[in-house]
Amino acid sequence: MLNTWNQYQCMATFNLSRSASLFETGIGRGMGFRDSNQDLLGFVHMIPERARARILDIAATQLSDGTCYHQYQPLTKQGNADVGGDFYDDHLWLVLSTTAYVRETGDLSILDEPCGYADVAVPDGQVATSTLLDHLELSFAYTLAMRGPHDLPRSGHADWSVCRHLNCFSTEPNESFQLAGDVEGSQAESVMIAGLFLYAAGEMVRLYEHLERPDDARRMMAGYDDMLAVMETQAWDGEWYTRAFDATGAPVGSQINDEGQIYIESQGWAVLGGAGLTNGRARRALDSVAEHLATENGIVLQQPAYTRYQLELGEITSYPPGVKENAGIFCHNNSWIHLAHCVLGDGDRAFEYYLSVCPSAKQDQIDTYRLEPYVYAQTIDGKDSLTFGQAKNSWLTGTAAWTFVVLSQGILGIKPDYDGLRIDPCIPATWDGFEVTRRFRGSTFQIAVRNPDHVSSGVRETRINGEVHTGTTIPVPDAPSRVSVEVTLG
Ligand code: BGC
Ligand code: NOJ
Repeated sequence: MLNTWNQYQCMATFNLSRSASLFETGIGRGMGFRDSNQDLLGFVHMIPERARARILDIAATQLSDGTCYHQYQPLTKQGNADVGGDFYDDHLWLVLSTTAYVRETGDLSILDEPCGYADVAVPDGQVATSTLLDHLELSFAYTLAMRGPHDLPRSGHADWSVCRHLNCFSTEPNESFQLAGDVEGSQAESVMIAGLFLYAAGEMVRLYEHLERPDDARRMMAGYDDMLAVMETQAWDGEWYTRAFDATGAPVGSQINDEGQIYIESQGWAVLGGAGLTNGRARRALDSVAEHLATENGIVLQQPAYTRYQLELGEITSYPPGVKENAGIFCHNNSWIHLAHCVLGDGDRAFEYYLSVCPSAKQDQIDTYRLEPYVYAQTIDGKDSLTFGQAKNSWLTGTAAWTFVVLSQGILGIKPDYDGLRIDPCIPATWDGFEVTRRFRGSTFQIAVRNPDHVSSGVRETRINGEVHTGTTIPVPDAPSRVSVEVTLG
C-alpha cells in the first residue's frame, strides 16, 4: 500500500480532486479548496514543482475577506460563485499544504510569490500585491476574528463535514426554516475548526521560527494560546470534546444530546492541535473513541446514529443510520485518530486502526467490502447499517493523502522538517524494525530502524553514516549524496 498504491491514489486525487471519476460526473464539483489542499499532503514529495503551482492556483481563489471559493474549475481556474465563501474551515487547509511543501522542499521563495485574491482585480501588466504568506496571515486572522458566542470559530454553512448545517433553524413552530448561514451573524460554532486552527497556528509558529522572525512567531503563539484556552474551557464535555454549537448555542456531540453524542472529528483535531496533552483529556477522548466509535471495519463518525430528520442539523440527519456522515465510517477522518495515537506514542492502536480501513486487509471479507482491495474508499458502512462493512466511493477521497501521512510520517515516523528529515517512529511493539529508502531534497536516505526492546516509540540512538548523532533530525547534506541512518528504539 505505502510504496505503490497509496502513492498512485495520491497522484489521482492530486490530478482530479473530486472532479471526475466513476462516482463523480466531472461537470459539478471541480477542484475543492479544502480537498485539494489536503490532497497535496500526500503529493508534495512526488513532483514538488507541480505541487508549488497548485498551491498558488488554490491560494488565488481565496477572497480578500479570508474566505474562499469552495471549489474552482480546473481549466478556467475560476471559483464556482454559487458555492463560495461560507465554509469557514477552507482557508486553514492552505496553511497545512503550504507548510508541508516548504518542509518537503526547503523552498521558501513560494511564500513571497504574488498571488492575488479572487475578488481583487489586478490591472493588465501588473502582478498582485499580496503574497502567499499574506494569504496565510489572513487565514489565521480570519478564524481568530470570526468567533461565536463561546469564542469558538464560527462554522459558516458547514465545516469539514459538509452536510451538517448548523445554521438552519426554525423561527416559529411549523414555519418554514431560515437558513441562517446565508444571513449575516450566523452563530453556529465548530470545535473541529478550533482544533484545526490550533494545528495551523502551531505550523505558523514553526514557520516563523524557521524564518527567524521571533516577534511573528510569538504573535502566532498568542493566537494559539487564546484558542487553546477557549477549547479547554468551552468544548470539553466530560469524556470527550463536543463537536459544535448550533445556531441557538446548543451543543452538538454532547452527552446531553439524544443522538450524535460523540463525534470523531473533534477528538482527532483536538489532540493534533495539542489540546488535552497536559490534563489527561487527550487520552480520555481517544479512550471514548475506542469505547463508542471503533469497530472492526473502522471508526464510525458519530454515535448514536441519527434516526430522524432534524432541521437544526440539516442534511446529515437525512442519511440512513450508518451511512456516510450519519455514523458511517468516513475513512478520511479515521486518519486523524491514527495520527492522534501517534502523538501519544501508541503505535499498537494506530496500526490496528489503520488495518481496519486498509483495503488490502479486506481480502477475507471482500464479498462484504465490495470495492478494489488496493485503493482507499471514502466510506465504509457503519455498524448501524444493514450493509456494515460495505465500502463506497473508492479513488477520489482525502483518505489517500491522509493515510499516506499516517503511514509515512505517523507510524514509520519519517517527517520532513524545515532543517532536515526527522525520524521518530511510532510502530506496533511487536515489530522488530523496518527499512526505508527516502529521497529528500536531492539526497537519498537509507534508513534502518531497529526495535530490540519491542517498544512502540522513543528513540534511544541515531547514527548517521555510522556516527552517533544528537537529536532525531537528520540534516540535509550540502551536495546530493547517499546517507545511511540507523535508528534504535528503546
Ligand atoms: C460529499 C459527501 C457528502 C455530500 C453531502 C458530497 O459532495 O462527497 O461526503 O455526504 O456531499 O452533501
Ligand atoms: C467529501 C467532500 O469532498 C469533502 O470536502 C468533505 O470534507 C467530506 N466529504 C466530508 O463531508
